[in-house]
Amino acid sequence: MAEIQIRNLKKHFADFVAVNDSSFTVRDGEFFVMLGPSGCGKTTTLRMIAGLEMPTSGQILLDGEDVTFNRGSERDIAFVFQLFALYPHMSVRRNISFPLRIQGLPRAEIRARTEDVARLLQITHLLDRGVGGLAAGDRQRVALGRAIVRRAKAFLMDEPLGALDAEFRDRMCEELRLLHNRIKATTVYVTHDQIEAMSMADRICIMNKGDVLQVGAPMEVYERPATKFVAGFIGSPSMNFLAARGKFAPGTREIRVNGATVAMPETREGLATEGAVLGARPEHIRIADEGPLRGRVFAVEYMGARQLVTVDTDAGRLRVRAPNTVRVDYGETVGLAFDPERIVVFNPDTDRAVRSTLFDGDAHG
Ligand SMILES: Nc1ncnc2c1ncn2[C@@H]1O[C@H](COP(=O)(O)OP(=O)(O)OP(=O)(O)O)[C@@H](O)[C@H]1O
Ligand SMILES: [Mg+2]
Repeated sequence: MAEIQIRNLKKHFADFVAVNDSSFTVRDGEFFVMLGPSGCGKTTTLRMIAGLEMPTSGQILLDGEDVTFNRGSERDIAFVFQLFALYPHMSVRRNISFPLRIQGLPRAEIRARTEDVARLLQITHLLDRGVGGLAAGDRQRVALGRAIVRRAKAFLMDEPLGALDAEFRDRMCEELRLLHNRIKATTVYVTHDQIEAMSMADRICIMNKGDVLQVGAPMEVYERPATKFVAGFIGSPSMNFLAARGKFAPGTREIRVNGATVAMPETREGLATEGAVLGARPEHIRIADEGPLRGRVFAVEYMGARQLVTVDTDAGRLRVRAPNTVRVDYGETVGLAFDPERIVVFNPDTDRAVRSTLFDGDAHG
């Protein structure tokens, strides 16, 4: 078990900044997901934690001990690459025990630990079978077993499910999460898939272009995104962004969008620039005659209990998640109302969310 602290971590490759002044703490026993688009610095961060890459500056602490300059082999952290790859010519037992045999542990201990892991994963009856004939789910359990048998202080996983098709991915995600609930080993899991991150993480760290933008529980980053990038990256379909007239003082409760007045949560800080950006998630917009904005229905997609309605307004194209009981037709003009307590206003110069009552009670201030 371990807590991993990252302090002002930087990594430059020549004059390219891959990781720019990252600071965050992975709590003991946490399932911590690093999420961000390709090239944002996820793998580089993970490799620095593992000791495979030296930081340009900054510190890495493992359970309070500075391990920045320790070799990877001195850190007792397991780096799991492809979870799915097994050794096809070996039995289940030999696949699981492989990392222990590499370490040269005594045979009795290898046997005991392999059997412990098999019991945990409920594959004891398969131990002496070859992996060739196993069902997909059992193969996944064997792969997991091999990853956890070392009992490392922490696990680092870099897109371990990347090569799997969608159905197996879902199952493996579930299995991984269930396993984590049982063994509670600190895990840092890297993915660029926001749905995977949202469904698995205790907390998510969102990166873009080398910067850590926000660390928080899935609900927190969804409901109170710190920046416009976070708001747009998490959630599908994406949050709607509308150009609004900027410049307001703290305490403001409404904002002008294309000549209409839209209510928003009470602001805790002002905005000194012209041209704010207003963010509203599709489920926080209602189709309602009295709504301040009007537009023409461009598309209606039925999705079971909900429908996704695309509306073209003078302020831009908006996507609205509405109950199926709302009747709308293609080409029709509708009014749009916003849930005032859920609207986020962004500063267009910094892309940061303007603090409001929406953010009250936010641990990260
Ligand atoms: N050894 C290196 N030398 C030079 N540039 C590098 C090196 N390693 C990574 N980079 C660059 O640093 C940036 C971050 O890379 P990194 O592999 O950490 O991204 P990532 O978030 O893991 O992306 P992906 O989702 O594609 O795996 C990229 O622009 C990459 O090209
Ligand atoms: Mg990567």
